[in-house]
Amino acid sequence: MRILTGVQPSGIPHLGNYFGAMKQVCALQDKGESFLFIADYHALTTSPDPKVLRQNVVNLALDFIACGVDLEKTVFFRQSDVPEVCELAWILGNVTPVGLLERAHSYKDKLAKGFAANTGLFTYPVLMAADILLYRSDLVPVGKDQKQHLEITRDVAIKFNNAYGDILTIPEGYIPDEVAIVPGTDGQKMSKSYGNTIPIFGTEKEIKKAVMNIVTDCKGLEEKKDPDHCNVFAIYKLFATPEEQSKMRENYLGGNYGYGHAKLALFEKLWTTFEPMRRRRAELAADATFVERTLAANGERARAEANKLMRKVRRAVGLR
Ligand code: ADP
Ligand code: TRP
Repeated sequence: MRILTGVQPSGIPHLGNYFGAMKQVCALQDKGESFLFIADYHALTTSPDPKVLRQNVVNLALDFIACGVDLEKTVFFRQSDVPEVCELAWILGNVTPVGLLERAHSYKDKLAKGFAANTGLFTYPVLMAADILLYRSDLVPVGKDQKQHLEITRDVAIKFNNAYGDILTIPEGYIPDEVAIVPGTDGQKMSKSYGNTIPIFGTEKEIKKAVMNIVTDCKGLEEKKDPDHCNVFAIYKLFATPEEQSKMRENYLGGNYGYGHAKLALFEKLWTTFEPMRRRRAELAADATFVERTLAANGERARAEANKLMRKVRRAVGLR
């Protein structure tokens, strides 16, 4: 079974990204042949600064490898190192009804947020379909927000196969329900767009500041507190062992335990949990050519795989 997913290089990873995406991707590496790529072509749809985009790609590669992407098990590459994906997207565009794309929520959301209605944004799902179909992926782990894009991918693949024969593999989405939404420091979903994140690779000062900013009610030190309606406890639960959780729960219920104490315990847990990853990331980053070498070598492997399919696709549609 081939498992593939892509991630957009969009800045500093936070706890939501870690629990909602990075950890999941790493857990799937043993379940099949694993492909992971950095979606830099997709990132262009929101017109990032070129220098920032290039830097974000490098940072994201370091983040994922430090968090456990195993280069022995996963082909970890940069989308744009396989330009055939654009060729396939063009070909797929010719079996994709405009109405299918007009109905895409993410397109409508982007317009509502004020992004220019460019064609790249509009055809984003076709490029995503090409990403998935190019590598004959069976299983595509994604967050809930990508569900519709996967349905579009399946529709497009079926239309292509109906027109040209059984060439594309129809993928299944993998959208685990049990991945909880990590709350941010204000209690809403943690997200870069809400400015309520706790970075996983920040400095001690940055992480402490974010933790100290978590919003709580204003019960005083002596008062008994409700762990089940507290953001600090909700985030602590993501890391802590069952014993540690019961301990903090008792502290909350017992009184004489302030939110400051809970925040400090959370900070310490967070800091020690990410310590090995932080160290590994720093080691990798110290080697100035590591990321480039890794992505280039993996890109070649991915490209060889992509070309196997492209030969069939070109022949089927009547190209050279
Ligand atoms: P952001 O909302 O910060 O821009 P992205 O949309 O780039 O994050 O999400 C990247 C990945 O991280 C997606 O797979 C998404 O499902 C996951 N993710 C983001 N925020 C959270 C969260 N608060 N809880 C769980 N998963 C999340
Ligand atoms: N659109 C995805 C996101 O924003 C990223 C992505 C691009 C992707 N191509 C993909 C995910 C192919 C899975 C498969 O999260």
